[in-house]
Parts: sequence; structure tokens; C-alpha cells
Amino acid sequence: MNEKHVLVVDNENLVCWSLAKMLKRIGHATEIANTAAAARLNLNSFTPDLVILEAALPDADGLQLLTEFKSKKPGLPVVVMTSNFHSNLAFQAFSLGADDYIGKPFNIDMVERTVQKILVKQNQDNEINPEKKSLRKKYEPDQLVGNCPSMVDLFKTINTCAQNDCKTILVLGESGTGKELVTHAIHNQSARKGAPLIELNCASLPENLLENELFGHEKGAYTDAGSREVGIFEQAEGGTVFLDEIGDMPLKMQAKILKVIENRKFRRLGGQEDIETDVRIIAATNQNLIAMVKEGRFRGDLFYRLNMMSITLKPLRERKKCIPSMVEYFIDRLNGEYGRSVEGISSHALRFLMAHSWPGNVRELRNSLERAMMLEPGNILSTDNFCEFPGTEHLREGGGSCGCSLPAEATIVLPPEGISIEEVEKEYIKQALSRYDGNQTKAAKCLGLTLDTLRYRRKKFGLEKYPSKPSSISSPPVGKKDRGSSTALPG
Ligand SMILES: Nc1ncnc2c1ncn2[C@@H]1O[C@H](COP(=O)(O)OP(=O)(O)OP(=O)(O)O)[C@@H](O)[C@H]1O
Ligand SMILES: [Mg+2]
Repeated sequence: MNEKHVLVVDNENLVCWSLAKMLKRIGHATEIANTAAAARLNLNSFTPDLVILEAALPDADGLQLLTEFKSKKPGLPVVVMTSNFHSNLAFQAFSLGADDYIGKPFNIDMVERTVQKILVKQNQDNEINPEKKSLRKKYEPDQLVGNCPSMVDLFKTINTCAQNDCKTILVLGESGTGKELVTHAIHNQSARKGAPLIELNCASLPENLLENELFGHEKGAYTDAGSREVGIFEQAEGGTVFLDEIGDMPLKMQAKILKVIENRKFRRLGGQEDIETDVRIIAATNQNLIAMVKEGRFRGDLFYRLNMMSITLKPLRERKKCIPSMVEYFIDRLNGEYGRSVEGISSHALRFLMAHSWPGNVRELRNSLERAMMLEPGNILSTDNFCEFPGTEHLREGGGSCGCSLPAEATIVLPPEGISIEEVEKEYIKQALSRYDGNQTKAAKCLGLTLDTLRYRRKKFGLEKYPSKPSSISSPPVGKKDRGSSTALPG
């Protein structure tokens, strides 16, 4: 067997050492990560063929990391190990997609057999399907595309920011408009390209872990700090730190970030010395920071500092002229990813896409095309492959309908005093979520929305936690007309 890359994720050095020694003996390269943060970085830079993952990590739940890895790289085998051996954890690990489970203390020969078995199977899988494999291109992030005037302006702004080495940049825009891609483009077009771009989602960690991730710590800084660890600001030296979802950063951390921006210095947790840093900070959010400043939820001083150079991405509904070039790009990309040879989209279907309002923006467009390509066995996508958009039924080829549409007997009468469409929409979403006890897939299907769109609207209407417990609300009796239930979801 060729040399494989095995990533060992455990904070116990002795365990890592003994696994690395065994792996080297049987001819595989090993990388060790003592924390979840280091493991995440290695996932991209080391591109492992197998991960051996401890379930209890100092900075994250290993099973959470398992889910994360499996969603990013579904074919990557992960073996979970733990000393807190109890059958429930093994069950949880397997149900989250673990490929095997090892209890500690382990017998190293047994681990060797487990590793070999998985890697041999992986080799065989690749050999069985060589054509499919060669048809698939290596995954690379999307390129920013679009040829409408606002995208052309955006490309110029990205170039200016990159060339002028602006030290702080704020990227604003609704979810799915491409903030992450813009960040990558700025980094890759700048002289910082050779140094790392390190991303931190500020909404994903509680305040103390956020601080640890960003600034690192000295040995003994807190009970579990067994050794010195450098944080993102040191790891990204010379490059870029991307603070995603900055609107969710706790106020105390905001003050610390402002200090770093102003002084270009920081301290590790428990450290006595200032460390100078040369990184570009790009912050992004889909929240309204001005409103948050007014409400005291975001520091005004940090906002003004970040906003000195800001890029606002327009929602897709305001740059629909970009849609044809994006469609072409995504079909081409998805052909590569799935080994397909879809040639294009019917002009009718394109009109259909131009008529939609794209609340989930480019992400929704990409997902819709991906779904359409799964549904369409032929080489041209038609409107029938895009049946999920409500309000565009009249554009469908042959006037047919698909999915769930309003029942024939339903009559919707605009009340004389008018009505807020948003309220109606919110009410329907609540009812669908209640009906399916919060099951988003079923609720989205029932409303004729994509999952992304439902998620987006749930967030927009503050319904993320709705319903809080299984609902007992049932749909109204069919045929019974009641003014009070004019927004009742058809059964
Ligand atoms: N101009 C574009 N060209 C090509 N792909 C794009 C473009 N804009 C967005 N995308 C694609 O849309 C999806 C969402 O993009 P991205 O993650 O950058 O959005 P975002 O603004 O960061 O969203 P969120 O606020 O939800 O994190 C990705 O698949 C991305 O590749
Ligand atoms: Mg993003």
C-alpha cells in the first residue's frame, strides 16, 4: 500500500507518540493535533486519508468535530477513541458516521489491524471505481464569478484592498452573498498570499475559548493549559485573520480585538509580554451592525474602526444580470464534481431563475442547480427541475405544477385593511414547523422552499428555536372557512 496520511487528534502526548511510532513502522505519515483547532487546520493542510480522533478534547467535543469532518469530507474515515468508555458514546460515534471505535488503554496491535483494515478498504473502493474518480475534479473553492456592473465594481474593490494592504476590512452582506469568497480573493490577490489565511467563526465558541483560539496561552495559564500554545494571531503572522460572524462576538472580546487593531500587539493568555502582530483582519457579518451599535450590542468604536474600509455585497435579487454567468459557472463546476456532462439550461428555465427572489442568494442558486442536476438525467436542465420556487408557477413549461401547491378549493382574499406579507409568511413557516415538530426538511418541502431558504427565513423571523417543544397544534379542518385562520396551512 502507498504511504497514507494519518491525522492523530489527542491531547495526550504519550498516546500520540505511540500511535505515530506504530504508523511510521507500517509506512504511513502522521500529523499530530493536540486540539480541535489544530485538527481543523490539518484537515486542509495535511489532507489526511484517515483520522484517529479522541472523543474528549480540551477545546471541543470530539464527536462534534467528527460531524464537522464528515460533513466537510464525507469519504474520510474517522476512528474514534476514548478512555471514558461507555457503550452510549460508541453508539453515538457510530451513528455520527465513525468508521471504528477504540477504547483506551488500547492494544497497539489491535489499533494497527483497525488502521490497516480501513486503509485497505479505502484503496479497494478507489480501485473499483477508477473512472468515476478520474471524472471528478479535485475540490477547489468556488471562484467569484459574475459579470454584472456591481460584480465588476466588486472585483476592482477587492483588487484595491489587496494591493494597498488595507489592514482591516469589513465585509457585509446577506447570508450566501459570497463574503467568504471575497475574503479568500482579497488574501489570494495580495502580497500576503504566501502566509496563512486563518478563519474563526466568532459565533461558534464561548468567550473564553474564543480568546484562547485567537491569542493562545502560556503554560499554566489555566488548569488544563499543560503547555504553551500559539493562537490564530501568531499562526497567521504575515497573512490574514478572518473573523466571520463578527456580529456574534461577545462585547468583551470586541474590546480586545479593537486593542489589537489599534496597537498591533496582543498577549497570550497568562502571558506577561506583548507580542507584535502583522496580520490583516477581515471581519464579516450578515447582521446590521449599525442597528446593533444603537442597541448597545456592538461596540461603536470597533464598528467605526472596521468600517473605515468596508465592502457591501448586494443581494442576488439586486444583481440578477449576474445569474446567467453564474448558472454557466456552477453547471460547469458541478459537472466536474459529479462526473456529469450537463450542457446548459433551457431558456424557459433561465427565465424561471431570473424571476425568483433568491432569499438565500448565491448559495441558494448553487444548491438549486445542484438539486436540478440530480433530478435531471439528461443534458439540459428544464423548469421541471426547479419546482421548489413558490410564486413562479405561471412560468412553468406546460403550466404544470409540482411539489405541494395550494389546494384547488383555497381562496385567499386580501382583507380590506391590507395585510403584511411578511407576517403571513412567518405564520405559515411557524405552522409548518409546528406540524412537523421542527423537522426542517419536511417543513421546507411542505412550503415548497429549499432547506437553505427555510433556514434563512427562520433566522430572519427569529424562529430558530421554534417550536421549543413538540407541538400539539394540528391543521384546521379542511374546508372550514374561518377568518381567524386565514393563514392556516392547508393540510
Ligand atoms: N460571486 C460568486 N461566484 C461564485 N460563487 C459564489 C459567489 N458568491 C457566493 N458564491 C457561492 O455561494 C455559497 C455561499 O458563499 P459564501 O459562503 O461566501 O457566503 P457568505 O456571504 O459567507 O454566507 P454566510 O453569511 O451564510 O456565511 C458558496 O458556495 C460560494 O461558493
Ligand atoms: Mg460566510
